[in-house]
Amino acid sequence: MTQLDDLPSLRTAGDTWSITESVGATALGVAASRAVETAGANPLIRDEFAELLVSSAGPIWARLADAEVAWLEGDPHGQRVHRLGCDYQAVRTHFFDEYFNAAGKAGIRQVVILAAGLDSRAYRLDWPSGTVVYEIDQPKVLDYKTEILGSQGAVPAAKRCAVAVDLRDDWPGALTSAGFDRTQPTAWLAEGLLPYLPSDAADRLFEMVNSLSAPGSKVAVEAFNMKTNGNTGRWRRMRERLGLDIDVEALTYHEPDRSDAAEWLADHGWRVRSVSNREEMARLGRPVPEDLADEAVRSTLLRARLGGPSD
Ligand SMILES: C[S@@+](CC[C@H](N)C(=O)[O-])C[C@H]1O[C@@H](n2cnc3c(N)ncnc32)[C@H](O)[C@@H]1O
Repeated sequence: MTQLDDLPSLRTAGDTWSITESVGATALGVAASRAVETAGANPLIRDEFAELLVSSAGPIWARLADAEVAWLEGDPHGQRVHRLGCDYQAVRTHFFDEYFNAAGKAGIRQVVILAAGLDSRAYRLDWPSGTVVYEIDQPKVLDYKTEILGSQGAVPAAKRCAVAVDLRDDWPGALTSAGFDRTQPTAWLAEGLLPYLPSDAADRLFEMVNSLSAPGSKVAVEAFNMKTNGNTGRWRRMRERLGLDIDVEALTYHEPDRSDAAEWLADHGWRVRSVSNREEMARLGRPVPEDLADEAVRSTLLRARLGGPSD
C-alpha cells in the first residue's frame, strides 16, 4: 500500500484528468514556462508549440504563458521566483533535448516519453529518419495535444505514436500493442513525472523500463528532492493571482522512502551520469540567486545507458 504523509492529498487510485484538471494542469504549467523561454531574448530552447498549446486551454492559461509575466505585476519578488522557475524548465528541457540528440547520433531509433503531457519533441526535434516516438500519458491529455497541434497543421518530425494509458496500469502491454519492439535499443524519458506516481508505481516503472530495454538503451530522468522542493510558492501565486486550481503539493506523493533513481539504475547495470539542477543551471548561465535558493526547485538530472559508456 502507498503511504501518504500528513499533507492532504487530492489523489485517489485510478484517478483520471483532462488537460485543465488535477495532474493534467501541471502539463500546462510546464509548457507555459517553455513558452515564456521561447519568447525570451536569448532562449536556451525553442518550443514553438508551447504558446499555442497553453493558450488554447483558455485566457487564464494564456496569461501564464505571457513572456512579460504581467500577471505578477506589483509583485517583483514573485516575478523573480516565477522567472527562476521558467529558467529551471528551460534548463531541464535543454538537458533532455541534448539527450535525445545524442541518442539519435548513437543510432537509437525508438523513443518512449513517459508522461509526455504537452511535450512537443516529436514535432520539434530533428529526429533521424526512421525514428518512432511513443508518447505515454492519460487519454484526454494526449487527445488535447493531438487535436490542437493537428488543427494548426503541425506535422510530427518522426513517426509519433500516442499510447493512451495510465502509468499505474499495464502500460508495457499498451506500449507493446502500439508496436514497441523490445529487441531494439530505446531512449526513455521520465521528465516531470516521478512525484505524481505512488512509490509502488514508480518502482514498477523502473523495473519495466529495465526489462523492456535492449542493450544499448538509454534512459533520462528528472529526480526531485521532495523534502526540500521550494517550488510551491510559484504554484501558490498561480492559484492566488490567476485563480488556477492547481495544488501541486496535494497532487504529488510525499512518501519518505522512495527509491533513488540513480542508485536503482546503477544497481541494475546501468551506467549513470547525473548533475544537480543547480550545477546545470549555473553551467548554462541561469544560476539560482542566493537569496532565492529556498524558493527554487531541487532536482537531479540524470541519464544512463545499459551497457557501454554512459553519455
Ligand atoms: C508536470 S507534467 C510533465 C509533462 C511532460 N513530461 C513535460 O515535461 O512537459 C506531468 C504529466 O504526467 C502525466 N502523468 C502523471 N501521472 C500519470 C499517470 N499515472 N499515468 C499517465 N500519465 C501521468 C500527466 O498527465 C502530465 O501530463
